[in-house]
Amino acid sequence: TRPLKVALLGCGVVGSEVARIMTTHADDLAARIGAPVELAGVAVRRPSRVREGIDPALITTDATALVKRGDIDVVVEVIGGIEPARTLITTAFEHGASVVSANKALLAQDGAALHAAAEANDKDLYYEAAVAGAIPLIRPLRESLAGDKVNRVLGIVNGTTNFILDKMDSTGAGYQEALDEATALGYAEADPTADVEGFDAAAKAAILAGIAFHTRVRLDDVYREGMTEVTAADFASAKEMSCTIKLLAICERAGDGASVTARVHPAMIPLTHPLASVRGAYNAVFVESDASGQLMFYGPGAGGAPTASAVLGDLVAVCRNRLSGATGPGESAYAALTVSPMGDVTTRY
Ligand code: HSE
Repeated sequence: TRPLKVALLGCGVVGSEVARIMTTHADDLAARIGAPVELAGVAVRRPSRVREGIDPALITTDATALVKRGDIDVVVEVIGGIEPARTLITTAFEHGASVVSANKALLAQDGAALHAAAEANDKDLYYEAAVAGAIPLIRPLRESLAGDKVNRVLGIVNGTTNFILDKMDSTGAGYQEALDEATALGYAEADPTADVEGFDAAAKAAILAGIAFHTRVRLDDVYREGMTEVTAADFASAKEMSCTIKLLAICERAGDGASVTARVHPAMIPLTHPLASVRGAYNAVFVESDASGQLMFYGPGAGGAPTASAVLGDLVAVCRNRLSGATGPGESAYAALTVSPMGDVTTRY
């Protein structure tokens, strides 16, 4: 069988792990897929950086030329941000490739258009790594639960803020002190806005709500409140009520079930709830559906290797589809539910 050719866009924390696992697990991947996978090119911004284990001949700064080559089976996009990622992905579809992406910001903003572009070209778009790193969520919601009816998705989808809130809870520290520790340990970025103001969680909520309820939800549809104003005193009050405080993403059917609501805000949850025991930078997502009842997905929501694990899983699925001529669920699988800007604010546990 001919080898399947993979173009990697981005070779940072996640991309370098994807390349490493593709090499170290090459035999296993070939066995899972039914054909070998070959790294055909790696597009980077800074070509002079040493990239261990990657053939320097594969490195290019011309990502556009790479996705236009025409012989690429799968483009793996791990550069993040809106542009040039969006144009590169649509160009990849037009030039015959399927796409695996880890880009939550782009999927939350332009998921519908990207799905439409994939479908117009009869190609796959998979993005398990865009939400909660290694934790399988997109495919369980899209495939394993496709015959069930999901009513609510409730979870901790940002590790940085969970680390900070956990620190405040366990030590009595204030927000700034806990943030400083998260920064020192490398959890929080130099500019922590996307995490602490809830933008990162809101993008993930938009993607999860869209997949769970078979509709389209954009970042702008998600009510968002960050956690910068949570104080040590709030934790003391929560404790008196046998509760803790978590930054939750809550996506649920609203009203008669014909509309959907998605929101991110700090919430008090009872210490007896499984989400209360999610410590440190971990993520956990609770899914409630008609037939399955309650499910909880738990694990590392960030980091190079965990995120690469999700990318590689998608790569295997997309490569299998290339060989069989099939494509995964596309835009036409979606119904149009109304998206309410803000739903019932009383959260039931
Ligand atoms: N900044 C994110 C987090 C990384 O803290 O969870 C993964 O999206």
